[in-house]
Amino acid sequence: MTDTVTVALGERRYDILIGKGLLARADRLITPVMRSRRAVIVTDETVARAHAGDLVAALDAAGIAAAVETVPAGESSKSMTVLADLVERLLARGIDRSTTIVALGGGVVGDLAGFAAAVLLRGVDFVQVPTSLLAQVDSSVGGKTGVNAAAGKNLIGAFHQPRLVLADTGTLDTLPDREMKAGYAEIVKYGAIDRPDFFDWLESNGRSVLAREQAALAHAVAESCRSKAAIVAADEREHGGRALLNLGHTFAHALEAEAGYDGSLLHGEAVAIGMVMAFEFSVELGHCSAPDARRLRDHLADAGLPTTIGERFAAPPPAKRLFHHMTHDKKASGGRVTLILTRGIGGAFTTAETPETRILSFLSHAITEV
Ligand SMILES: NC(=O)c1ccc[n+]([C@@H]2O[C@H](COP(=O)([O-])OP(=O)(O)OC[C@H]3O[C@@H](n4cnc5c(N)ncnc54)[C@H](O)[C@@H]3O)[C@@H](O)[C@H]2O)c1
Ligand SMILES: [Zn+2]
Repeated sequence: MTDTVTVALGERRYDILIGKGLLARADRLITPVMRSRRAVIVTDETVARAHAGDLVAALDAAGIAAAVETVPAGESSKSMTVLADLVERLLARGIDRSTTIVALGGGVVGDLAGFAAAVLLRGVDFVQVPTSLLAQVDSSVGGKTGVNAAAGKNLIGAFHQPRLVLADTGTLDTLPDREMKAGYAEIVKYGAIDRPDFFDWLESNGRSVLAREQAALAHAVAESCRSKAAIVAADEREHGGRALLNLGHTFAHALEAEAGYDGSLLHGEAVAIGMVMAFEFSVELGHCSAPDARRLRDHLADAGLPTTIGERFAAPPPAKRLFHHMTHDKKASGGRVTLILTRGIGGAFTTAETPETRILSFLSHAITEV
């Protein structure tokens, strides 16, 4: 069974198709959005081994001889160096403005290949074929593409919406459990932002999702995409509501910067801890009830995600350094840190009103208590 979620962006609208076995049917699914029979698949070495063959075979059946360009797996491929090399390789393939770039992989490949598509020939079409849970529920939807700079993550990029997203939940069978759990944190995020009904459902069905039981998994991916699609359609370029998607992320980015992107703290793990921090801080500021914060923490812990800084750091990172990362986050505007706080499960809101002294004092005890 295939579920369809539409991202309603006027003439740039596109569908997200969700279901098991979509890769094998890619010929019929992708060709309707292609301008010509030319396509190049961009993927990473790990995903290439597991899944590129199926996609190449499916496209081949439709008479599309898609070339495959691979980059090394991992965050380090989201760099200007890899991007420069990739665009040269794509140009050497003789791509033209009718060529479709197909991004097959996790968020790294999606962000990198999407950005390459945005800048090549001033913009060519691309299709997202996300293969990590994080990419299926988050990064493949919404059109944010880009690479990292020395000054920080995702600082070089463009908005470039895909023509189609094919989320084949069957590809997750080969995803390592730790990556699966990390992606699950972003699913919980949607419930925590504004979908208390979905959060209830996750409390009952989260284990089935993580066990890759197809019905539960496809439902969780589809509901997450529905959440993200609605938020993106209402605020494509993050002038307002889209910022809610950063629940837990201001804290998470600070923790990731401290950990150093070496694989010791995955993004989704940082988001799990960051969401707990956002809820705890909201309790401290009188916005949220302690039982709601406890409920969030319990569910994340039940899913096997870290909920305390101590679970991923041998020594607590200094509060002042975390605060520095937070205030240098690109979402910090006009000298004030924009935080996503909450009134409870499903009650997230954005504020730039929190005094910096309160943030620093929260961090000072959160590093050992959260
Ligand atoms: N554009 C956005 O809106 C957005 C949103 C959230 C995150 N992101 C970005 O996404 C990136 C993280 O994405 P990610 O967690 O998918 O990381 P990733 O792309 O590095 O994938 C994680 C690991 O899983 C492997 N993998 C992927 N699919 C697999 C499969 N089916 N089987 C086996 N292994 C597989 C990859 O090779 C990699 O080693 C970050 O760079 C982050 O900034 C972007
Ligand atoms: Zn995230």
